[in-house]
Amino acid sequence: MRGKFITIEGPDGAGKTTQVRKITNYLDSIGYKVLVTREPGGTSLGERLRDMVLTLKGESPVPEAEALIYAASRAQLVKKVINPALERGNIVLCDRFVDSSLAYQGWARGLGIQELTNINGWFLKDTWPDLTVILDVDPAQSLKRLRGKKDRLEKETLAFHQRVREGFLKVHSMYPNRTTIVDASQCPEQVFETILFEIKKSGIINI
Ligand code: TYD
Repeated sequence: MRGKFITIEGPDGAGKTTQVRKITNYLDSIGYKVLVTREPGGTSLGERLRDMVLTLKGESPVPEAEALIYAASRAQLVKKVINPALERGNIVLCDRFVDSSLAYQGWARGLGIQELTNINGWFLKDTWPDLTVILDVDPAQSLKRLRGKKDRLEKETLAFHQRVREGFLKVHSMYPNRTTIVDASQCPEQVFETILFEIKKSGIINI
């Protein structure tokens, strides 16, 4: 049987990576085979594209080029990693996926959520997530959590990050069946409990 595909989304600093780790440990502990990956990246070509799109060095891509670089990384990941794992029956957990493109490039950069859906739909075909968890938090709060050197997107203005948040909420209103919003201003344990509740509710795991 084909496996299930879960993606974790949200603005920078929302705590996605911590939650991906908690979900993976939990699913492992109850005997599910989980493949964890991330975007942009997850393949050797994808990691090169990631460096290219996040670096502060050199010329910045125009929004259209930015959208296509993320899409190229995604196409490679879907064909090389995600689809084979789903065919093996694994649960695939991805730290960011297509909804980041819809929120960041489609809404915050103003290219259009529908346009980004079309571009990505061209190669995603059936590989849309079964469940997308959107961690929702005020960027004024989440950006404070970022440590170390900031990448090109993290260095954007607060207004940009506010549009990203708005974009994710719009994505949820356009795709209410496959996406769910989780309040990420709570402590990590509470956020995890809520995510687990949503995963169970979606029928991805039976426990
Ligand atoms: P992320 O992996 O969350 O960065 P980090 O590892 O530093 O937490 O994502 C990198 C950035 O790329 C993030 O600011 C969101 C952005 N992004 C897009 O703009 N569009 C996309 O399609 C994806 C996947 C990410």
